[in-house]
Amino acid sequence: MEIHDKYVFGRDKVESKRLDSQHRLLVKVTGNTLIHPTIPTEQIRSVADIATGTGIWLEDVSQFLDTPHIQRYYHGFDISSDQFPDNPGSIHLSVHDLTDPFPREHWNRYDLVHVRLLVAALEEYEYRAAITNIYNILKPGGYLQWEEIDEETYISKDNPVIWELRRCFDYSLTTEGKCFQASAKVYQESQIVGFVDVERLAYDSHQNPDLRLDTDKRLAAIIRTLYARLLWRSGQVDGEEAAARKAEALIELHLGLCDRGCSPSVKLMRVVGRKPFAASL
Ligand SMILES: C[S@@+](CC[C@H](N)C(=O)[O-])C[C@H]1O[C@@H](n2cnc3c(N)ncnc32)[C@H](O)[C@@H]1O
Repeated sequence: MEIHDKYVFGRDKVESKRLDSQHRLLVKVTGNTLIHPTIPTEQIRSVADIATGTGIWLEDVSQFLDTPHIQRYYHGFDISSDQFPDNPGSIHLSVHDLTDPFPREHWNRYDLVHVRLLVAALEEYEYRAAITNIYNILKPGGYLQWEEIDEETYISKDNPVIWELRRCFDYSLTTEGKCFQASAKVYQESQIVGFVDVERLAYDSHQNPDLRLDTDKRLAAIIRTLYARLLWRSGQVDGEEAAARKAEALIELHLGLCDRGCSPSVKLMRVVGRKPFAASL
């Protein structure tokens, strides 16, 4: 993987494992609501997951919605197939860049489109095209559910690890033309594109004390991957090894604070909206 690839994370087995454990944590953070409770699941027949990664969300959703005698269609899209599962079963998978229009066969096809964690991937100017492309593949009346971990997670009055992460992410993402306030951007752009009943919600891991250990581990993994990588890409340190050393020192500080009861929470931001029934393409 090149240092200047637009995508910041790697795509190897370790990274796939990290995405899958993060998925399990995030589902718990939302109180096990894989699909937002205001979305009527009994009407869902077709679901797309964009930037699907390992396809873990889609796999869980297909099990959650499984009912005898009802056939549903599931399709995962990603700009790279590197992390696609080897045995996707009945789930369809395609390589597609969300900022490009989808092939015509997908237009007006989906009751629900899910997107999660593109904060470090999309440039700020690309959100409008991305959301328009999603609008076009939804059926009239279909739902968008877009989830991000963004600036909201990196706000703290007293945690120096969070201060450092916020400083680094804000600086590096801005330098790359990306948007640290991703969920606010999706909330705003989806209304401009034509979505209605748009809501933006925050789920905080501290609502469930049982999640502390997994949340602490997740942040350590983010420091080792995203933080180290962004430090290096933005030239804030001299090379990969220096970035790794700085990341390990920050992890040590983070874990020490966690031992003293100062675990930071993760906030999952969720934007939900509906394409109007009267929408025409
Ligand atoms: C942080 S991973 C999240 C994966 C998955 N959504 C999850 O929550 O586990 C981001 C994914 O977005 C994909 N991606 C990045 N830019 C994309 C684009 N323009 N269109 C489609 N997928 C993209 C990456 O290849 C990667 O699989």
